[in-house]
Amino acid sequence: TRSWSVEPDASSAHPFLAEAGAILAQGGIVAFPTETVYGLGADAGNSKAVEAIFAAKGRPSDNPLIVHIADMEQLDELVDEVDPISRRLMDAFWPGPLTLVLPARPGTVSPRVTAGLDTVAVRMPDHPVALSLLRAASCPIAAPSANRSGRPSPTTAAHVHGDLDGRIDGVVDGGPTGVGLESTVAVVERDGGRIRVLRPGGVTVADMRRVVPDAEVTSETGAEDTEAPRSPGMKYAHYAPQGRLTVVQGKMERTVPWVRESLAEAKRSGEKTGVLTVLEHAELYEADLVMGCGRANDMNAVAKELYAALRRFDQAGITYIIAEGYESADGIGLAVMNRLNKAAGHRIVKV
Ligand code: TXA
Ligand code: MG
Repeated sequence: TRSWSVEPDASSAHPFLAEAGAILAQGGIVAFPTETVYGLGADAGNSKAVEAIFAAKGRPSDNPLIVHIADMEQLDELVDEVDPISRRLMDAFWPGPLTLVLPARPGTVSPRVTAGLDTVAVRMPDHPVALSLLRAASCPIAAPSANRSGRPSPTTAAHVHGDLDGRIDGVVDGGPTGVGLESTVAVVERDGGRIRVLRPGGVTVADMRRVVPDAEVTSETGAEDTEAPRSPGMKYAHYAPQGRLTVVQGKMERTVPWVRESLAEAKRSGEKTGVLTVLEHAELYEADLVMGCGRANDMNAVAKELYAALRRFDQAGITYIIAEGYESADGIGLAVMNRLNKAAGHRIVKV
């Protein structure tokens, strides 16, 4: 597995990106930064290359991939028609952390990408390195998050190396990612009246309502829902740390004593304990690992640091983890709670 370090604003003329792009064009698999998380890319039209992604990740083959594009000409190759609402969403949020599910043009992307569906999920990432690499490869790139299946998505190149070294051709290191959680996945219903959010992310329900006030926006996966049948990926256990993780919700006066007592009890029974909290609460707890992740009033910072924090528990061999739930389950907070609750396998305690 090669490693290419580039500045976060590198152009497609950069020799490392030209080299990585050529490897992609020839059917190789290469990880690269986006504004959300690191992706593991392959030529979306090359079934063998796409199969190599599933093999490297250990990903179930019925979970389709997102196709990444650098410009609107590439979109025309991939999809049959774009409805006016999807068009307005693209105009407003591309490049950016919004994936749109659209009717696939038959025969352009590998059926391994769409898992046999007649739709294709497409996004234009808002990261200069990703866009430059896509241009260097000059083909649409299918890319899931660059983690082993079931692990938290990678937000640094080091996370990618930790999960996938020896399994992939290379990693383009463009520094830590921005949003820290995967893109919002949405689909506009055929009659055009409704936008369904299949996975919450950096583009929020409120953002979309602002741009298309005439359409209804519904979220199929709230912070706690387990499944959205139309986004096959939502049914798999995800982002799970190796320790047993429980999310606690409620008012601080009640949760803090409960968390302290639970940690102490777990410690007595021989567990290695961890707590995931916000920086201002870190002092309140005693555990083998206390992770202060962002501040309570800054959900963007929490989103950015969440996956790295979950990985730290594994590195420290923590067997019992309690995470404080966040109060603001709207905006990016909805995506944070969605990922956290999934990481906990939906073990949620209301105190
Ligand atoms: O931010 C992101 O979206 C990152 C970066 C690398 O771009 N990618 C990512 O990919 O998170 P992945 O494969 O981990 O998640 C893709 C999600 C899955 O939940 C999958 O089920 C859904 O998109 N998806 C893909 N194609 C779909 C389709 N045709 N219809 C419905 N859902 C689809
Ligand atoms: Mg993923």
